[in-house]
Amino acid sequence: MILLRRNRILRQTPAVRAMVAETTLRPSDFIAPLFVTEGHGVKDEIASMHGYYRMSIDNTMLEVRELWALGIKCVLLFVKCDDSLKDNRGTEALNPDGLMQRTIKAIKHALPEMVVMTDVALDPFSSHGHDGIVEGHEIVNDPTVKVLAEMSVSHGLAGADFVAPSDMMDGRIRAIREALEYAGLTKTGIMSYSAKYASCFYGPFRDALDSAPGFGDKKTYQMDYANRLEAVKETLMDVEEGADIVMVKPAMAYLDIIREIKNVVEVPVSAYHVSGEYAMIKAAAKMGWLDEDKAVLESLTGIKRAGASLIATYYAKHAAMLLHG
Ligand code: PBG
Repeated sequence: MILLRRNRILRQTPAVRAMVAETTLRPSDFIAPLFVTEGHGVKDEIASMHGYYRMSIDNTMLEVRELWALGIKCVLLFVKCDDSLKDNRGTEALNPDGLMQRTIKAIKHALPEMVVMTDVALDPFSSHGHDGIVEGHEIVNDPTVKVLAEMSVSHGLAGADFVAPSDMMDGRIRAIREALEYAGLTKTGIMSYSAKYASCFYGPFRDALDSAPGFGDKKTYQMDYANRLEAVKETLMDVEEGADIVMVKPAMAYLDIIREIKNVVEVPVSAYHVSGEYAMIKAAAKMGWLDEDKAVLESLTGIKRAGASLIATYYAKHAAMLLHG
């Protein structure tokens, strides 16, 4: 055959493939989610997230140092609130001496360069397990936004670098931005979960924080997975309202959405490779049906190729170790 173009030339050896690779993962692409719980010396494995733990602050600090040493620059904090402290308004979320606030301070004190992001939503603090305040069977928008703005200020005052509202209430980004401004927190950023879908892939996370909704589902605030334009609308509005970074969540079933958003915004796009996505790879690897290391790198590279320059993933540490060889 006489061919003018032989595409296989560029795939010939590992060296050539490395030279022409269009997407490369770096440890600084990852955001490592951490589940913090009360106590001392606690490291509880999460049943549905093999190899992932809820840790007390002391063990969290050890973990944060290891992540930093591996080149990971950012952690995203979630706290497990004791049932006795939960109520409908998420009051404990505003406690200046609450577990979240203490964790932020501990990390920023020990390792000031580590970028600390915090989850802002009521579900871990809500007696109903919903992301907002419940009246009757409704998750009410405007009163919830007020609490989310106060919660963001509380995290900002404790030293959080970014607040990450994951609730999907309307108007919360603007309210949070204004509240941060009024509080003089002009260096606190907002990473908005702007296109967050109502997804079954959050199941293991809800086990981790014991935060499953007590009634109904989250479909009146999280998005319908049938929709694409709605994701664009939500994200553009969040950017207008003041989001510094936007996010698509989950990741792997939503790669088209990541790309679509990447094409229309001028802020960094992140994606959340969520608990169920982690659990799927773990489970298949445990059965010997998938090569875990390869599945992790392929999945995360695919998410980055789709357009996410930042990836929140429970595989952050594992992937960083693989990248270091
Ligand atoms: C809470 C929140 C959830 C996740 C992040 N923040 C759960 C939910 O919305 O029900 C899911 C993360 C994951 O599954 O890894 N608002």
